[in-house]
Amino acid sequence: MTPDPQPHDFTWSDSFVLGYAPMDEVHEEFVGIVGAMKSASDAELPALLDAFARHAAEHFATEDGWMTQTDFPARDCHIGEHAAVLASVHAVRGRLAQDGDCEPARRLVAHLQAWFPGHADYLDSALSHWMCKLRWGGKPVVIRRNLATAAAGACN
Ligand SMILES: [Fe+2]
Ligand SMILES: [Fe+2]
Repeated sequence: MTPDPQPHDFTWSDSFVLGYAPMDEVHEEFVGIVGAMKSASDAELPALLDAFARHAAEHFATEDGWMTQTDFPARDCHIGEHAAVLASVHAVRGRLAQDGDCEPARRLVAHLQAWFPGHADYLDSALSHWMCKLRWGGKPVVIRRNLATAAAGACN
């Protein structure tokens, strides 16, 4: 079995909050499913991968729709990243269905965990700002708890 390059858990935290609530809700679901796939048994993985494929298709179609409907500048790169991830998900699902090999799916999960923070920070955050500005006339106000304090369990 390939060693997991990111053994730590993948769980939702305030560090992922971008400020546009409809996007943050979808992102929390993304993190939840990827985190569940990370800890899934081989028997659990196919159903979770199917759930992730449905989530990703809807997640990316929603963001693509926001970008195209509002003429978001420089949207091609963002839409292209979504399409590339979806293509990988479909390829891995096919492989798992065909021969039951879980290794490609486990590598995909590791890649998704590595990919998401950068995608969210650079591409989704710009879209979040854009959508907030269109809706409310300003950038989102993001309130994050003291993450170090929260991680230490001092926030109850
Ligand atoms: Fe997103
Ligand atoms: Fe995105």
